[in-house]
Amino acid sequence: MKGIILAGGKGTRLYPITRGASKQLLPIYDKPMIFHPITTLMLAGIRDILVIAMPDSLSSYQRLLGTGEDWGMSFTYAPQPEPRGLADAFIIGAGFVGGHCSALALGDNMFYGAGLGGELESFGKLETGATILACQVTNPSEFGVVEMAPDGTALSIEEKPTRPRSNWAVTGLYFYDQDVVDIAREVQSSARGELEITSVNEAYLKRGNLKVHRLARGTAWLDAGTFDGLIQASQFVQTVEKRQGMKIACPEEVAWRKHFINDAQLDKLASEYKNEYGQYLHSLLNMPFWEQT
Ligand code: TTP
Repeated sequence: MKGIILAGGKGTRLYPITRGASKQLLPIYDKPMIFHPITTLMLAGIRDILVIAMPDSLSSYQRLLGTGEDWGMSFTYAPQPEPRGLADAFIIGAGFVGGHCSALALGDNMFYGAGLGGELESFGKLETGATILACQVTNPSEFGVVEMAPDGTALSIEEKPTRPRSNWAVTGLYFYDQDVVDIAREVQSSARGELEITSVNEAYLKRGNLKVHRLARGTAWLDAGTFDGLIQASQFVQTVEKRQGMKIACPEEVAWRKHFINDAQLDKLASEYKNEYGQYLHSLLNMPFWEQT
């Protein structure tokens, strides 16, 4: 399966911060925001990722992430000159996706919770249809909202409804089969002028091929797109990391735990940092064996 990260957009809700810097490069405590969707995709077993960003920030992403080789990954890059909508990812990424299944992760969405790694691993093995993740929220009108039958089957999906039919919001992580490119090409611009991912999900729903996975209440889903969201995400990461001594969304660690890289490669990466981040990476190699998996 291939992965796409959408790291474009204008980030207008964060102006003036994002007038001079791409949102997904902003820090969430001790790491750039984009490390979150990257590690989410890595946990799904995805090693080949296309990063889509505004043309003027692409070089910053390339400087940060490079080819991905050091993490046992492959990163390629493509510009999105205008924020035409989330479904645009599959038009820009059509050549990259080819005939493969793919996962789309929004650059400003973060997930954290017990058991999520195993769930992501199973979504990464999808062969047909689509799987989306839904999370309970208090403000469903601000999201895509999915209505479900008691057995969890999706009944309807609506983008930012004024009268939501449930409080289950569609999160920014989507898994699709190879049909997604053709489906995205058929999508018409919405009233707000965007190619909506909700239209893609509706197409799968109509085919009877859409699975909705409900995130457990112990799973945190955060969107760092507003002033409060940004600081709350940082505080969340800082609180968990300081308490447990384990990092959230550390790509070098995930690469090592998933066996994309070996001990010697992790040791080399650790030595490149002369700070607490490097000490953390070194400490992983000295963990008791039973904590290393
Ligand atoms: P949004 O938060 O909807 O848009 P934005 O980031 O431009 O922010 P604002 O609403 O403050 O103007 O986008 C969600 C994520 O998807 C975010 O990481 C940016 C990314 N995105 C793109 O890369 N391309 C797009 O065309 C759109 C709509 C979003």
